Amino acid sequence: MSVQVRFLDTTLRDGEQTPGVSLTPDEKLRIALKLDNLGVDIIEAGSAITSKGEREGIKKITSEGLSAEICSFARAVKVDIDAALECDVDSVHLVVPTSDLHLKHKLRKTREEVLQQSIESTQYAVDHGLIVELSAEDSTRSDMDYLSQIFEEGIGVGAKRICACDTVGMLTPEKSHDFYSQLSKLGAPLSVHCHNDFGLAVANSLSALRAGASEVHATINGIGERAGNASLEEVAVALHSLYGTKTDINIQQLYETSKMVARLTGVYLQPNKAIVGENAFAHESGIHADGVIKKAETYEPITPELVGHQRRFVMGKHIGTKLLQKRVDELGLKVNQGQLMQIFERVKSLGDMGKCVTDVDLQAITEDVLGFVQEKMVDLEEVTIVSGNKVIPTASVKLKIDDKDILEAGVGLGPVDAAIVAIKKSIADFADIELEEYHVDAITGGTDALIDVIVKLRYEDRVISARSTQPDIIMASVEAYLSGVNRLLADKKEDIKS
Ligand code: KIV
Ligand code: ZN
Repeated sequence: MSVQVRFLDTTLRDGEQTPGVSLTPDEKLRIALKLDNLGVDIIEAGSAITSKGEREGIKKITSEGLSAEICSFARAVKVDIDAALECDVDSVHLVVPTSDLHLKHKLRKTREEVLQQSIESTQYAVDHGLIVELSAEDSTRSDMDYLSQIFEEGIGVGAKRICACDTVGMLTPEKSHDFYSQLSKLGAPLSVHCHNDFGLAVANSLSALRAGASEVHATINGIGERAGNASLEEVAVALHSLYGTKTDINIQQLYETSKMVARLTGVYLQPNKAIVGENAFAHESGIHADGVIKKAETYEPITPELVGHQRRFVMGKHIGTKLLQKRVDELGLKVNQGQLMQIFERVKSLGDMGKCVTDVDLQAITEDVLGFVQEKMVDLEEVTIVSGNKVIPTASVKLKIDDKDILEAGVGLGPVDAAIVAIKKSIADFADIELEEYHVDAITGGTDALIDVIVKLRYEDRVISARSTQPDIIMASVEAYLSGVNRLLADKKEDIKS
């Protein structure tokens, strides 16, 4: 493994090629600032030829004077390189397809023609002051002699780095080692670019790095075409914690960066995603949670703080009394052993019904067992929804907040969205509460099913989950949201008092 591994982050180029993702110039800038803070060496900011908006985004990034090298993707044609130059980038990721499959069916060109095109465009970019990372698309299905010739000739006319792309994720860790070992003999700094079609992008990238590649292409959260690219957070933490290899990545920033990219791209993570998923440091079972409370290493390979994440204990039917006691203590409520056992039984029976217990559920159960009810700061008086195929979904709500009636209306993409927009507007003067996640489940079959809605809400740095189960999806959503809002506002009031 090279002494220090460099990262080219391609979230803003390959990542933006995720189906359904399109970022505005300002969103691109926000992500680039975050990536620079994260310590990536190179930011592939986009593909300058794509559109006017894309060029605007890249220009915004280049004018920031970031520490990272700013790069544009370019095909091996003059117009693409000119567009990159117009954006004032430091470098181009200059790409030529090299497999016969791509040459014959996509480019309809001969090997000789593509070789010529590659040499001329590298020369052109170098002559215009750009650093060139010469990249071969579909290189893992290319003839090795031809691939090596493309790279050698490119290096000969000034390419500073070479990159081999596993465009459709065909490598295995063993093949990757073999393949990148051969290319590393060419003498130029070598980059690995892996796709995740078989779920092996990270393993293949690490293998390539062990074989002599010194730069890895990756995206935040592993987003990208089809099954995505190698995930930057997974490669970076594996290098740090499993291989002890140096990088410039500030790994404490990984969770925050991942959240930001998920929010701006709208590509939310599977909960069990390594390193940054919501369950990456969550523990439910009694035995695991008990072990973690005593000594975190028992069931955690790294601490959540290392990557800026947080440990979470989830309550369900596997909960043990120790964890339950801890969670009740965190609510600031005092219970005796008998009361704890009553709460324990109620949490277990919810678990047996297939439900996990949210923070608000636990609060409600505990208060019920203790025989007192927390007053609500925000009460729903009325909600009216208009929806259909010819109207914009619209909601009006009347809330009682601190004994004042507040009336608001909102429109949304659907009736639930409209209702939440109207409620958010009503409470805007009191608190800026963000809906981070929304899950809906039909518990029974049929159109008269009971609907279970769980929401995750954030107020400043506090995150809680709340639920409501009702036959009406809109009412379940509104009640879950308000229940979470009440809990967050009550917590805030307590914080201010103490
Ligand atoms: O995966 C790939 O081959 C690419 C190239 C176009 C650079 O992203
Ligand atoms: Zn790619």
